[in-house]
Amino acid sequence: MDSFDLDSYRRQWQPRIDAELGKNLQEWEALQGCPRPLAEAMRYVVLGGGKRLRPLMVLLAIRAVGGEEERGVRASCALEIIHAYSLVHDDLPAMDDDDVRRGKPSCHRAYGEAMAVLVGDGLLTQAFGVLADAVPAPDVARAVSLVARCAGTAGMVGGQVDDVLETASTTAEVESVHRRKTAALFECALALGGMLGGAGPAELAALSKYGAELGLAYQIADDLLAFKGNQDVLGRPTGSDEAKGRRTYPAMAGEDQARQRCRDLIHAALESLEPLGAGADGLRALADFVWKRT
Ligand code: IPE
Ligand code: IPE
Ligand code: MG
Ligand code: MG
Repeated sequence: MDSFDLDSYRRQWQPRIDAELGKNLQEWEALQGCPRPLAEAMRYVVLGGGKRLRPLMVLLAIRAVGGEEERGVRASCALEIIHAYSLVHDDLPAMDDDDVRRGKPSCHRAYGEAMAVLVGDGLLTQAFGVLADAVPAPDVARAVSLVARCAGTAGMVGGQVDDVLETASTTAEVESVHRRKTAALFECALALGGMLGGAGPAELAALSKYGAELGLAYQIADDLLAFKGNQDVLGRPTGSDEAKGRRTYPAMAGEDQARQRCRDLIHAALESLEPLGAGADGLRALADFVWKRT
């Protein structure tokens, strides 16, 4: 596990992912009927930074089951595009009302609220086109269904709704919200990668479990960074969760217990990789990266 160099893996694959995302943007811009201001705002949102964790997770999952990463690059972009849309809507005044994202003005600050709503609509819709074009024919229906389930009403959107409604009053309820708003897309990335890499049912289950546990750990780690006011690691201003009354794990249980829970989740994520052997060392290194962020 120690031997896997996640940094150089990222340096190897991130340019491929970015290039593929750029190609998608170019294709949409070239479509007759795509308004230029929409294309410009979409470009701003998709190509303006971000760690590309979800595409990287797709590739690491493919690798974990012995597949070829190159085959997953195009499909992995669909998840980054969905993630990008979710951040645009998440930052809107009606939601988290955040002015800065990825170190720059958030989409609605740069292009106005109406455009930000429509950028999100456009990205979510185009993402399914990207997925349908990228996944080999026998798996398209399965992949579309997986992504719809994870990103949709019982997944990311459902979690965002419960976050905004602030219904959670226990840490277990907070976890349920975060399992949907954040971890569902992690799980999706792992399952999609597994599918593209030809994973069997047991491998798929292991990858999905890892994604779900790591996703929840990631949200807790992210909330810890915000809680501690660590803007540099976070890439955006802190304090907004508290100001909005958002229920976060550290706000409810305190910093120490949040770190402990995060650590337990990382352990659970690593444990679920056991059936996968050395191929999953990249995923192990990713779990380590999430833990070290805290
Ligand atoms: C931020 O996700 C939102 C959460 C789910 C906590 P990332 O930390 O992956 O954001 P980017 O893509 O790198 O900006
Ligand atoms: C991010 O939620 C989850 C989604 C966008 C689906 P947060 O509101 O906690 O993330 P940040 O803090 O804005 O990145
Ligand atoms: Mg939010
Ligand atoms: Mg937010």
